[in-house]
Amino acid sequence: MEKFDYAIIGAGPGGYVSAIRAAQLGLKTALIEKDERLGGTCLNVGCIPSKALLESSELFYQAGHKFKEHGIIIDNVRSDLPIMMTRKNIIVKTLTDGIDDLMKKNQVSVLCGTGRLSSSDSITVQNGNETTSIEANALLLAMGSIPIELPFMPFDGKYIVNSTDALSFDAVPERLIVVGAGAIGLELGCVWSRLGSKVSAVEMLPQIAPFADRQMSIMLQRSLKSQGLEFYLGSTVTGAEVKTGRVSLTFEDAKGEIKTLDGDRILVAVGRKPNSRNTGLKDIGVNIEKNGSIPVDLNFQTNIQGVYAIGDLIHGPMLAHKAEDEGIAVAEIVAHHRRTGLRTRPSNQAGNPGHVNYDTIPNVIYTSPELAVVGLSEEQAKEKNIKYKTGKFYFRGNGRALSLGETDGLVKILAEEETGKLLGVHILGPRASDLIAEAVIAMEFGVTAEKLARTIHAHPTLSEAVKEAAMAVNKRSIHG
Ligand code: NAI
Repeated sequence: MEKFDYAIIGAGPGGYVSAIRAAQLGLKTALIEKDERLGGTCLNVGCIPSKALLESSELFYQAGHKFKEHGIIIDNVRSDLPIMMTRKNIIVKTLTDGIDDLMKKNQVSVLCGTGRLSSSDSITVQNGNETTSIEANALLLAMGSIPIELPFMPFDGKYIVNSTDALSFDAVPERLIVVGAGAIGLELGCVWSRLGSKVSAVEMLPQIAPFADRQMSIMLQRSLKSQGLEFYLGSTVTGAEVKTGRVSLTFEDAKGEIKTLDGDRILVAVGRKPNSRNTGLKDIGVNIEKNGSIPVDLNFQTNIQGVYAIGDLIHGPMLAHKAEDEGIAVAEIVAHHRRTGLRTRPSNQAGNPGHVNYDTIPNVIYTSPELAVVGLSEEQAKEKNIKYKTGKFYFRGNGRALSLGETDGLVKILAEEETGKLLGVHILGPRASDLIAEAVIAMEFGVTAEKLARTIHAHPTLSEAVKEAAMAVNKRSIHG
């Protein structure tokens, strides 16, 4: 039986990144993946294909609605869905092939098949009729998550669909009903709305993008409504029926009235659950919570010594970049253990801190405008009894946003009242996904709003809106 220092089940962003980091640190590493392609949900049926379609659909929308104001006249703008889908598939393939190359370059052994723990230091890999067994000193569980199904309306792949199906529709649905106005519901709702669907979103909570600061959520909803999306908030879905190629969704709205929506398809996007089943975890005694989540200690170790878990399998937001950083941390912890025999967290001095800062994980929804967040919302700051000041700057006052024709939205900064330290940064606007990086770095290094305000930002850029919001914290915004 081949023996490894480190074996990982699941080649999503958590698993494959951990494999590379482990190889860099000299660990003999195996990466086990059941799907044909590496990259997991993120690369194959999540972040990347959705961004490809968001870009194509946004360009189509702009050509039809916004080019005129630039003096660009295109008559009869049409979309070609098969070309869009091919482009999306090529992007996915380029990236997943790239991971194959990275594995080769780093001498990570990739084992194709379904991994199953047979003990705390051995895994069987089943690929069709072939079974391979390997041993490893440390095991990482990185199997990710799967879409949650509503029990009374199971996925059928055609009419009641999940996010994977909604990335590959063969035609633009005339009417698309979306259940759940979180990240997936909003992003895929936007894709199909821009391509011509009438999209209605039914959300259980009183606001869309529930993790977001309330003001930002309201503004995003307003923008999306102006683009044609329809929202039913505070609504409880009670059932769905498929009849003669059409679907209808029944729900109780916020006023307690029973409503029915008819459409071509229903996208159910009510969250994802940890994919912790069928991996032999229970047989070897790994604790699993009722929702499938795996409890881990500060070093990402499960209750079984030498068995670690990360990403969507454990607590915290289900985000690719969170999984990546956890994967790096575990590789550093495992390498430290092998080097020293200690099961403690490695010291920062070695440059391999094995640590994730959960207070500075950015969260982005790639709608137009984009919503990007790091740190606390106003509601969370109030709940924690933290005294704070806010500074806001609207993109309509930013020259670059005006020249882009993207003036919807604002930057809002929360800073601790006494120290001025940044508590949260919320950006709704063009390229918010890129702008948030500055805020993440600032928060990671404990920067104050004043320090951010006194940092020179290039002119004319969207990033000046961040500087202006920081200045506004101390009531001295220049252009606001
Ligand atoms: P989500 O947790 O973001 O949103 C689910 C929404 O469904 C919530 O607003 C929730 O209140 C609502 N909901 C739950 N049950 C419902 C019901 N019975 N009826 C109506 N509404 C209901 O989950 P989502 O959008 O499915 O995404 C899954 C995971 O993937 C999330 O953790 C998300 O962070 C991640 N993701 C991240 C993306 C990004 O970073 N841009 C993109 C897509 C997904």
